[in-house]
Amino acid sequence: MDKFIINGGRKLRGNVNISGAKNAAVAIIPAAILAGGVCVIENVPQINDVTIDLQILRHIGADIRLLDKSTIRIDTKHIRDTAIPYEMARHMRASYYFLGTMLSKFNHAKVSMPGGCDLGDRPIDQHTKCFKALGADYTIEHGMVEIAADKLTGTQIYFDKVTVGATINAMLASVKAEGLTIIENAAKEPHIVDLANFLNTIGADIMGAGTDVIKVRGVKTFKGADYSIIPDQIEAGTYMVAAAATKGDVTINNVIPKHLEPITSKLRKIGAVIEEFDDSMRIMGVDSYERTNLKTMPHPGFPTDMQPQFAALLTLAKGTSILTEGIFDNRFRYVDELRRMGADISVDGKVAVIEGVERLTGAPVKVADLRAGASLIIAGLCADGITEIEEIQHIERGYENMDLKLRALGADIVKRKLPDAIESIATAI
Ligand code: EPU
Repeated sequence: MDKFIINGGRKLRGNVNISGAKNAAVAIIPAAILAGGVCVIENVPQINDVTIDLQILRHIGADIRLLDKSTIRIDTKHIRDTAIPYEMARHMRASYYFLGTMLSKFNHAKVSMPGGCDLGDRPIDQHTKCFKALGADYTIEHGMVEIAADKLTGTQIYFDKVTVGATINAMLASVKAEGLTIIENAAKEPHIVDLANFLNTIGADIMGAGTDVIKVRGVKTFKGADYSIIPDQIEAGTYMVAAAATKGDVTINNVIPKHLEPITSKLRKIGAVIEEFDDSMRIMGVDSYERTNLKTMPHPGFPTDMQPQFAALLTLAKGTSILTEGIFDNRFRYVDELRRMGADISVDGKVAVIEGVERLTGAPVKVADLRAGASLIIAGLCADGITEIEEIQHIERGYENMDLKLRALGADIVKRKLPDAIESIATAI
């Protein structure tokens, strides 16, 4: 089991390239099952969630070739199996996108209940509601979700709440359904638009992605295509906050500034200086930051996936900041760890109150989920002394080579492997 060791206190300086978007990649890769020919997907992030997706595709019979470090050739014409075992699906949330694609392509899918970050209750009722509306029956037994349909028919789907995952599954499941499907109260995140663009490139007929009403007209045949995934808005935001928090000066390349607006405007509000270019942003930190309040909301609101990183920055701002988590029940699992580093944070339900402190000090800490890990890295970069971050497999699910990218910006961060003996003792106690 690896850990990151950070010697804090260095300002980040220089340029960093942002990788392809995790949450777009984990939808587009399973969507390649629908293609009628070979797909070449570019700008694929090298992260563990993508590795799992590719392992699942291989397991069910796809031919996968890595053309270069971020380009993958996927040929799904030999896929025959429509069952994905627990061991493969349990590690990530997005394994449920195989339900939508395989239902669409084969009228059947059997996938283990999804895993992913533990952020509190994460039901899949809106996914099953949409499969049912399209004409499928489903059962959940022995930890597996099984769906089957004689025929899928276009319909009207109104989501009771805005959900990224179910919006994606509704698009995937309806692209071949007979007639028109209207998805209302749809999520509008950039990766929803990216998936719709990919599906349209291989032959689908989807309109309205990026608004709250998406119209999908079923088509029968699909082709292969070349497609490049959008840059990762959350990876970009994480480096923006890290640059600001360390009072550095960092240019972030390969971004779509429009996708970063909620993050940019909050950073500017607390005092950071930001210059925007066509596909890059320069973030210049200042000596001290103002307090602020923020509430996470579906896109274009402030993203929940940036809340923990912002919390790390606000621990060092002047005054009291209030963070309200508007999406998940339990996204404050990093708070105890930040407290170990000297942060003054109290949590009541979905609200965290942060009293700014003068300094953080390095400490041994443990990562509970992906963005919690990013938060602890940012805190470690700002803290006096050494921060040892354990359980970094959560971070590597979603950030490509974070230690290498930070080191290139001047951070003192190394990845260490715990010796096996220590590791087995650590696991035993
Ligand atoms: N929800 C339901 N029923 C459903 C589906 C969702 O009640 O059937 C609830 C959830 O419990 C949550 C809210 O609706 O309270 C929103 O969930 P959503 O479906 O939007 O989230 P998700 O699809 O499970 C994706 C990302 C998350 C990101 C959220 C919100 C992927 C693979 N995951 O999750 O990414 O936080 O959207 O933007 O796309 C991350 O990258 O760190 C991460 C957790």
